[in-house]
Amino acid sequence: MDALDAIFQRKSVRNFTGEEVPKEKLELLLRAGMAAPSAVNMQPWEFILVTNKETLQSMADNLPYAKMMSKASACILVCAIPELAHRKLKDYAIIDCSCASQNILIAAEALGLGAVWTAVFPNIDRIEFVRKLLGVPKDVIPLNAIAIGIPTGEDQPKDKYKPEKIHYEKW
Ligand SMILES: Cc1cc2nc3c(=O)[nH]c(=O)nc-3n(C[C@H](O)[C@H](O)[C@H](O)COP(=O)(O)O)c2cc1C
Repeated sequence: MDALDAIFQRKSVRNFTGEEVPKEKLELLLRAGMAAPSAVNMQPWEFILVTNKETLQSMADNLPYAKMMSKASACILVCAIPELAHRKLKDYAIIDCSCASQNILIAAEALGLGAVWTAVFPNIDRIEFVRKLLGVPKDVIPLNAIAIGIPTGEDQPKDKYKPEKIHYEKW
């Protein structure tokens, strides 16, 4: 798929068939995440790939806006590591990991998969829940849990283009 098609066709997919996503495609998503830009190329990220059904169900039960995890084939938890970021700043780590997350979401679309960012950071309860469930160390910030699966086709892209949001030359 052409890059622009993938960008414009991408949508949050919350309806999955329940079929399995091949391992090779999941590996490609992780590669896409790591291809993202980061401040001073510090790459302050690590990823947890979850395919265990009980773990996915626990996320569905405990993360308030992640019910779709129960039918997802996998989840990628994008983790930010401020210690590794430019100037060891949390802000850079979160920004860099957001770029990695968007790469994963677009790559999923390009591979014919469905994906949705479900929020962990900045909610303290969700961060603590995920840390406990997946053994994430204290100095690592779980940014999001990206649900991944085979889309049913129910979710469709939205047209969000608003010319009035663009300023030319000056505000
Ligand atoms: C920071 C962030 C947090 C989000 N959190 C959730 C979430 O917890 N659960 C969910 O179903 N969608 C979540 N989303 C997806 C948004 O709801 C979605 O991107 C938005 O409605 C626009 O729809 P689209 O992705 O289909 O274009 C999140 C997206 C972002 C960027």
